[in-house]
Amino acid sequence: MNFQDQIKQGIPAELPAVKPYPADANRAPKRKDILTKVEKQLAVRNALRYFPKAWHAELALEFARELNDFGRIYMYRFKPDFAIKARPISDYPAKCQQAAAIMLMIDNNLDPAVAQHPEELITYGGNGAVFQNWAQYRLTMKYLSEMLDDQTLHMYSGHPMGLFPSSVEAPRVVVTNGMMIPNYSKPDDWERFNALGVTQYGQMTAGSFMYIGPQGIVHGTTITVMNAFRKVLQKGDTPHGKIFLTAGLGGMSGAQPKAGNIANCITVCAEVNAKAATKRHQQGWVDELVDNIDALIARVKVAQAEAEVVSIAYIGNVVDVWEAFDAEDIFVHLGSDQTSLHNPWSGGYYPVGISYDEANRLIREEPELFRAKVQDTLKRHAAIVNKHTAKGTYFFDYGNAFLLEASRAGGDVMAQNGIDFKYPSYVQDILGPMCFDYGFGPFRWVCTSGKAEDLDKTDAIAAAVLQRLMLEAPEEIQQQMQDNITWILDAKQNKLVVGSQARILYADAEGRAEIAAAFNAAIARGEIGPVVLGRDHHDVSGTDSPFRETSNIYDGSRFTADMAIHNVIGDSFRGATWVSIHNGGGVGWGEVMNGGFGMLLDGSAEADRRLKSMLFFDVNNGIARRSWARNSEADFAIKREMARTPKLQVTLANRVDDEILAQLPF
Ligand SMILES: NC(=O)c1ccc[n+]([C@@H]2O[C@H](COP(=O)([O-])OP(=O)(O)OC[C@H]3O[C@@H](n4cnc5c(N)ncnc54)[C@H](O)[C@@H]3O)[C@@H](O)[C@H]2O)c1
Repeated sequence: MNFQDQIKQGIPAELPAVKPYPADANRAPKRKDILTKVEKQLAVRNALRYFPKAWHAELALEFARELNDFGRIYMYRFKPDFAIKARPISDYPAKCQQAAAIMLMIDNNLDPAVAQHPEELITYGGNGAVFQNWAQYRLTMKYLSEMLDDQTLHMYSGHPMGLFPSSVEAPRVVVTNGMMIPNYSKPDDWERFNALGVTQYGQMTAGSFMYIGPQGIVHGTTITVMNAFRKVLQKGDTPHGKIFLTAGLGGMSGAQPKAGNIANCITVCAEVNAKAATKRHQQGWVDELVDNIDALIARVKVAQAEAEVVSIAYIGNVVDVWEAFDAEDIFVHLGSDQTSLHNPWSGGYYPVGISYDEANRLIREEPELFRAKVQDTLKRHAAIVNKHTAKGTYFFDYGNAFLLEASRAGGDVMAQNGIDFKYPSYVQDILGPMCFDYGFGPFRWVCTSGKAEDLDKTDAIAAAVLQRLMLEAPEEIQQQMQDNITWILDAKQNKLVVGSQARILYADAEGRAEIAAAFNAAIARGEIGPVVLGRDHHDVSGTDSPFRETSNIYDGSRFTADMAIHNVIGDSFRGATWVSIHNGGGVGWGEVMNGGFGMLLDGSAEADRRLKSMLFFDVNNGIARRSWARNSEADFAIKREMARTPKLQVTLANRVDDEILAQLPF
C-alpha cells in the first residue's frame, strides 16, 4: 500500500505484524513504574479502545509487556511502514490544504533526522511528545486527510477526539497537551496519567508540531551571547579574543559553540561525556576538542593573544576549567552553564573529581553518595564562579536551574536580600528587556514545497523587508533589527536546515507581519509555494513561566498564566490554522503554561487579512502585559504601536514614587 493509501486508512483493516525495534534507533528512557495493578489494567483497557474486539486478546498481552518494559504503551506494531518526514505539501492526501500543511508539520516533528526518540513519538527534551502512541498518529492523519475547510479537529494530548463542524474562519486543529486540574499537576502525576494514556507532555514546540530542529536554539543562543557581550564591552569593542566559558554539549547546550562562533568570541565549553563532545565535533558544531586541562590553558592563551574566533570543547568537568582559569589568571568575559540541572540526581549534572563512568555507577548503585557529591560540586562551582565575578566576569543563569540547585545545595548564590539570586537569568537581563519587551521573538516559517530554492527566496524577501523597516526604526530597536538582518543574510551559509526547509528569525510585531505579507504576495505571484508560519513558544506572549520567559515580570503576576491562555484563544479567532496550549514545557510539568500557533499562507487575500490580524495580537498581547508590569521597554513598544494603530487601546500603568510607599504604615 502506498503512502497516501496508508494515511487514508487510519487504523488498518488487518492487524499488522509485530515489528522488530530498529537497531539504530535512540530509544526513550524507561519511565517510572508508577501504576498499581488495577491502574495497569486501566491503561491496557484505555489502549485497546482504539482497536476492534477481535484483536484485544493478542494486543492486551503485548501492551502489558510494553507497559512493564518501558513504562508506557507506544503500540510499536502500529507504526506505519512509510518513511516519516516532511514531504512536499502536494504529496499529502487531503481535501483541504490547511490540513495537508498540518500533516507535513506533524511528519517533520517525527522525522528520525529531527526527532530525539522517533519510535516513541518524542521530538525533543526527553519527553516532548507529538502523540502518546501510534494509533493516535494514524487516526489523526486519517482525520486530516478527510477534513473539510469548515471542520475542526480537537486533540486532547495527542488523542484526536474527532472532527467537529466549525467554519472556514476557525482553526483546523485545536491542540491541548498536559492540561490538568492544578492540584494534579506535579511530576509524579504526569508519570501516572501519561502511563494511563490520558495525557502527555508536549514540551513547547513538539506537541504543537512546530519544532524545526536545532536551528531554533542556535539563533536564540546567538542572540543571547551577542547581547551579553554588549552588556560587558565598551562601545566599539568586539568579542574577538574574549572568552565565553560554559558547559554542556547536549541537545540544546550543543548550540553554544556554534552561537559563540557566530557572535565572534572564544567559546570554551566543558562536557563530561566524551561521546557527546565528539558527536558535536564531528557535526562541525564545535571547532576543537581538548581532553587535558594544561593543553586547554595553552590553547586558550594563544586564542586570546591572537584575538581568535574559535570554539573549544573541553572533555571534562566544567568546575575544573573555572578553577584552572582562576589559577592561571585567565579572564573570562562571559560565564554561564547549560548542564541539565533541571534533572540533578540522575545524570543532568556530574560531580567533579570522579570519572564519568564512576559517576554513572554511583547513580545506579549509590544514589545517596551521588547526591552528596553533586551538592559538594555545586558549592564548589558557585564559589569559583564568585571568584571570577569578583574579577569582573559577567555570569548569567541559562534557565537550567543552576542557581536554584546551587542554592538548595547551600552554595553562595543568594543576593543580600535573601530572596533573589546574586546573578540574573538570561531572560531577566538579556532576552526579556532587550528582545521580548520590544516584541522581538522567535518567528519561524517552513516552505511547504520542500524546495531549498523557496527557502532562499524567503530569506531574501525577509532580509529586504527588514532592511526597509530599519530605515524608519527608532534607535531603541535598531540593534535588534541589525542583528536580525545579519542573521538572515548569513543563514544559508550557517547550514542550519535539518528536516523541513525551515527558517527562524527574531522579529517584532511589525517585522513578522510585514515579512509574512511579503511571503503571501510572493506565493500569490507564483514565485514560491505555500508557507507555514509559526514560532517557538519561548516568546513574548506565548509563555507564562515564572523562572524563564516571564522572569523579568516584577509586579507579582509572573505566577499567573492569563497571558498564555489569552494568547491561544485570541489567536484562534484571528485566523490561526492551528493553535496549541500546553501545561509544562522546558522547565517541567506544572511549572509553565505555553501556547503557540501555526498558520498556512496560501497567497490568498484571506490569508493576508488573517496574518495581519493574528500576528498583531500574537505579539502585542504580551507587550501589553509586560507594559502593565511596568517594564519600560514594553511601555515604549506598546505606545509606539498605539500611535500607529488607532483601534488599539491598552491600559497603561501609572508609576508610583518610592517615597509615597516608604511613608506607608507597614
Ligand atoms: N539553550 C537554551 O536556550 C535553554 C533555554 C532554557 C533552558 N535551557 C536548559 O539548559 C539545560 C541543558 O539542555 P540540553 O538539552 O543541552 O541538556 P542535555 O542533558 O542534552 O545536555 C547537558 C550536558 O551537560 C553535560 N554535563 C553535565 N554535568 C556537567 C559538568 N559538571 N561539566 C561538564 N558537562 C556536564 C552532560 O553530559 C550533558 O551532555 C537544560 O536544563 C535546559 O532546560 C536551555
